[in-house]
Amino acid sequence: MYTPCTPRSPQQVPEGCTAALLESSELLNADYTTHLSMSELKRLAQISSTRKLEWLAARLAAKYLFLSQFQMGQPAVPRENHLVKLTSERLRRHSAWMYRNVEVLPPDEGQDEKPVLTWCGARRNENISLSHAAGISCASLSATPTAIDIEVATSRVTAFYRKTFTTAERKWVNASARNNDFQSRWFFTLLWTLKESALKLKMLSTATLWQLPRLEIKELPDLRFDDTSALDHLVSFPIRIKEPQGELPVQVAVAGTHEWVLTVMNSRPGVV
Ligand SMILES: CC(C)(COP(=O)(O)OP(=O)(O)OC[C@H]1O[C@@H](n2cnc3c(N)ncnc32)[C@H](O)[C@@H]1OP(=O)(O)O)[C@@H](O)C(=O)NCCC(=O)NCCS
Repeated sequence: MYTPCTPRSPQQVPEGCTAALLESSELLNADYTTHLSMSELKRLAQISSTRKLEWLAARLAAKYLFLSQFQMGQPAVPRENHLVKLTSERLRRHSAWMYRNVEVLPPDEGQDEKPVLTWCGARRNENISLSHAAGISCASLSATPTAIDIEVATSRVTAFYRKTFTTAERKWVNASARNNDFQSRWFFTLLWTLKESALKLKMLSTATLWQLPRLEIKELPDLRFDDTSALDHLVSFPIRIKEPQGELPVQVAVAGTHEWVLTVMNSRPGVV
């Protein structure tokens, strides 16, 4: 018998990764707390008022990706080179009841960790990752561990660049940015998102933000800003992440605008 909690598609999680972006401003004209479960509402009450909308937008993006895949039996959006930009209209494709029944929860062991997904109270195998920055939130959904990170391309003090990036990384930024200050900030932000994504992927010994300067992003391709600055177009390439204990090959997809940079990372080729 079909009940609302029964998937229309086989239970198996499709290969690949989908990612979505949602600006907080899309949430201003309706009350989306009706899309949260009781546990999520309790958690929302603990979030500072300045972060509430971003927190909510990240969860709605993850729930949207899950519901679209769950209902259609296929990814919510074409997988390759595509980032779906959600709007309040697009969010309405699923009912508040459906959203409430997908929960994005902190794992049992702690709050400051990779979130987990449940559907109608049962834990799901999909991997989700969330990120938010300055009024913009994003989520990724995949069968295998994937990490997403978004950062605003702001300028930092010189000491930050010197301490956080290796000589080889700084050389790569200089070559890519071609003496353009804005592009230099943008490429450094890209490197930072790659390091944070690596942390979130949880496949390295490096476990805290303070250890990020120990990581080196290696084998970066020759990138031009124009290749990566179209909002809905993800540019995908392999890199290696070096830490004192060894190296990890990963595949990354990058998108951005003049304001921000977004990266999605997976350890398997062909997923992002
Ligand atoms: C995970 C981490 C890189 C997040 O970076 P950030 O740019 O500040 O935040 P983002 O918006 O990109 O990502 C936050 C999301 O990542 C997820 N997250 C948090 N900790 C995580 C972890 N250890 N691993 C994977 N994902 C994590 C959460 O879903 C969080 O969203 P939520 O708060 O809405 O639930 C950072 O918090 C971190 O390194 N934590 C590890 C512990 C640590 O270093 N603590 C000292 C912090 S000063």
